[in-house]
Amino acid sequence: MDKKTFYITTPIYYPSGKAHIGHSYTTVAADTIARYKRMQGYDVFFMTGTDEHGQKIERRAKDAGVTPKEFIDPIVEGFQKVWETLDVRYDKFIRTTDDYHVEAVQKIFKQLYDKGDIYKSEYKGMYCAECEAFWTETQLQDGNCPDCGRPCHPASEEAYFFKLSNYADRLLKLYEDNPQFIQPESRKNEMISFINQGLEDLCVSRTSVKWGVPVDFDPKHTVYVWFDALLNYITGLGYTSDNDELFKKFWPADVHFVGKEIVRFHTVIWPAVLMAADIPLPERVYGHGWLLFGAAGEKMSKSKGNVVDPILLADRYGSDAIRYFLMRDIPFGSDGNFTNEALCNRINSDLANDLGNLLSRTAAMAEKYFGGTLPEEKQAGEFDDALIEMAKALPETVDGLICNLQFSTALSEIWKVISRANKYIDETMPWALAKDEANKPRLAAVLYNLAETLRIVGIIITPFLPKSGPKIFEQIGAGEQVRTYDSIGWGNLPANATLKKGETLFPRIDLEKEIAELDAMLAAQQEQAKAAQPKEEEPAAAPISIDDFAKVELKVAKVISCEPVKKAKKLLCLQLDDGSGKPRQVVSGIANYYKPEDLIGHCVVVVTNLHPAKLCGVESNGMILAADNAENDVKVIFVDGMTPGAKIR
Ligand code: MSP
Repeated sequence: MDKKTFYITTPIYYPSGKAHIGHSYTTVAADTIARYKRMQGYDVFFMTGTDEHGQKIERRAKDAGVTPKEFIDPIVEGFQKVWETLDVRYDKFIRTTDDYHVEAVQKIFKQLYDKGDIYKSEYKGMYCAECEAFWTETQLQDGNCPDCGRPCHPASEEAYFFKLSNYADRLLKLYEDNPQFIQPESRKNEMISFINQGLEDLCVSRTSVKWGVPVDFDPKHTVYVWFDALLNYITGLGYTSDNDELFKKFWPADVHFVGKEIVRFHTVIWPAVLMAADIPLPERVYGHGWLLFGAAGEKMSKSKGNVVDPILLADRYGSDAIRYFLMRDIPFGSDGNFTNEALCNRINSDLANDLGNLLSRTAAMAEKYFGGTLPEEKQAGEFDDALIEMAKALPETVDGLICNLQFSTALSEIWKVISRANKYIDETMPWALAKDEANKPRLAAVLYNLAETLRIVGIIITPFLPKSGPKIFEQIGAGEQVRTYDSIGWGNLPANATLKKGETLFPRIDLEKEIAELDAMLAAQQEQAKAAQPKEEEPAAAPISIDDFAKVELKVAKVISCEPVKKAKKLLCLQLDDGSGKPRQVVSGIANYYKPEDLIGHCVVVVTNLHPAKLCGVESNGMILAADNAENDVKVIFVDGMTPGAKIR
């Protein structure tokens, strides 16, 4: 019989900045399940890659003064290095600039055009340049992009459209007939209401973006980056190429892992495109939550400089510790926080104490009491059944959880068995048994039960912790044939196994010292990364009319006196002559840049019709204008020589 296949994908990442721990989250989860299925005998294909076209990359490259390809190549290499460091074993890494992908995108685009599912028209709508997404007026939130919150701008251009609106009913039916298609359930409800608001046709080409796949029959257009990117899931399998063996074998995908913010692209646009092209649909799309930064749970972003480098962490604690933290600490569908405390606590309590100690105590006792090799003669006793029953039940429990993508709960079930085994040591007290030669058969049974529990745990944690599994097998004397998933049943470790204490699996860390060091290291690294990051273009403010501008009253004012505000290091309190005859008091946050004597006697520009406000308890009636570089560089606008009260227009 043919082996069962399993095809899993991650989103393809934008190489607009370096791979960070948030990207690692999706990829480690995908790798864990790919390894797990391989271990169960599935023929697995695991694909990841990079999404290299589009306006964002085009812009970043331009800012850096290089071509888009020159810009992305080292970043893509960096992604691959991170995956290697984290033991991610993918079967294929697709780059959307690969020739075979570009050709396939062109063919599929043409095919849908010939069929009438893509047509040429004029685009008029609101466009978010950051997300490269078009939105309808109703989707905008306060005029801004509902995904990133940045302003959207009216855009109009000749464009090709995909007839997405034709697919609303079929999509709703897809969700209804295949309840597993969108997971978790809450995301499905969001998509249903999105479709029910009305689907518009999707603009799938751009004339304004040069860095993209050219529409071959109308080359002033490039294919919309999302249309190009989604197709990776089939072009990576050779769809439309001379060799489409992989496509025939692995498509449809068993699961696409995606972050919650891109569920819409994968569960509305992607299935509709596949329907149009008469290609079977993926089994399911799982929208996982976000890994947020710090206890306050900020969104990770390169521009905020709060991204965490996975290589730095893996170098310090080992890749298994990082993989464990990611899969254990954040339930897969939910958001979770990355904090140094949480990471260090997991390493110490779960890995060093629970698992590490169980292994080192078991191997050390076998060496001490039996010179390593357990005697054949064993005697069963009290407490055995409780441990053995739990260990026997573990594979089935974990299988159900992993198939439901509940990685965190699967690990917590495994750790229950580890804790049970540690408790079993306390209950059976091997050190007391060792005092009497007559108890040796009982002592041998206790150590065997511990080693056998560790073997089962070792097999089942290997997909999560690929380096630790083999280290456990070495120390408990489990040979190749009893390291397999097929051999997971209780009792397969030979009765006379030879245990050997080896290197500590996870060294304990001094929490307080470690957290402080880690805080400092990550802060330094983030500072560096932030400095190296090309400055994000600030989104342009929405246009206003001249009437709106005229509402702001700006006048020349002379600084009569000025003094620091007590208990507010940044503030100065200024008395101004604004030509009205009455002094105007203004509080300004410029104390770090100007001393009072730098300002007294000079003319500044003041906004005179602001509502009064209190700053640190001092009333302020206006605001003086200054240019702010956001890099600790602020310059007040001086208009010396002008008459106080003169209008600024
Ligand atoms: N290029 C698109 C995807 C195209 S798929 C056909 C894209 N790229 S991305 O680089 O911005 O993000 C890709 C994925 O990275 C997200 O969907 C998410 O899975 C993952 N993550 C990036 N930052 C993350 C966190 N902080 N936390 C968890 N996952 C995050 O969108």
